[in-house]
Amino acid sequence: MSLMNTSDKVFWHGFTDFYESFFLGRDFRYVAEVGVFKGNSIRWLLERFPNAEIHGADILPLQPEWPVNSRFAFSQLDQGDPKQLRSFFGSRPFELIIEDGSHQPQHQVLALVEGVQALAPLGLYILEDIHTSHPSSTRDGRGNALHALLAIHHYQRLGLPVDDTRAALIANNSILAAEEVHYLGSTLSKIALYRRTRLPDYCYRCNVRDFDFSALRCQCGADVFSDADSMTFVLQKA
Ligand SMILES: C[S@@+](CC[C@H](N)C(=O)[O-])C[C@H]1O[C@@H](n2cnc3c(N)ncnc32)[C@H](O)[C@@H]1O
Repeated sequence: MSLMNTSDKVFWHGFTDFYESFFLGRDFRYVAEVGVFKGNSIRWLLERFPNAEIHGADILPLQPEWPVNSRFAFSQLDQGDPKQLRSFFGSRPFELIIEDGSHQPQHQVLALVEGVQALAPLGLYILEDIHTSHPSSTRDGRGNALHALLAIHHYQRLGLPVDDTRAALIANNSILAAEEVHYLGSTLSKIALYRRTRLPDYCYRCNVRDFDFSALRCQCGADVFSDADSMTFVLQKA
């Protein structure tokens, strides 16, 4: 694949190497991704899962640069509308859902709740670019999917159930309702957060690999190692 056709999941965030440990030994039939943009991640999915139907969704209409392939289907939707999300996620028994859409905290929560409900048992839900829900990006002081998933993971790691009391604590001053937290806490069997700890392969803005290393910026000024960048969750349904 040329630089032009590579997803930022690969060259910038370094997400795909992390995903491989969850994909190992699995051959998905039905894969969905919210957020198609230039079609690069759809190209990656078509290649990575040669036996799968790949269903993409975006607020954009079908674009001429997107791959033409009998295994790729497209739905136009607004991620801010739970009914549209439900209908998209319910269209197949998806075993892998990737959410790389608007990156708005409220939309991330909507897609997470709808997506996990629709996911096949043992299916994987990937919530990309969750750094956009980091307090340094949101500055609204409210909890969101990042906080809730960290909290659920915290209790699971300590062997403590996310019961009604703990769900209410997590939902306090959060955009998630206690019932949503409770549902996620009872249905997610694995929660893994990745955070990039190396420099990107090359700059997303100007494609160069020679950075101003002392400033942790590309020579074009793009930040190459900021505090809130390149974070993704891989979640497994029970
Ligand atoms: C980061 S890009 C997707 C990149 C792609 N997955 C890749 O790796 O090559 C985000 C996409 O989300 C779409 N998007 C933005 N707001 C949206 C919304 N409300 N509903 C659905 N898609 C949205 C944008 O049009 C854009 O194509």
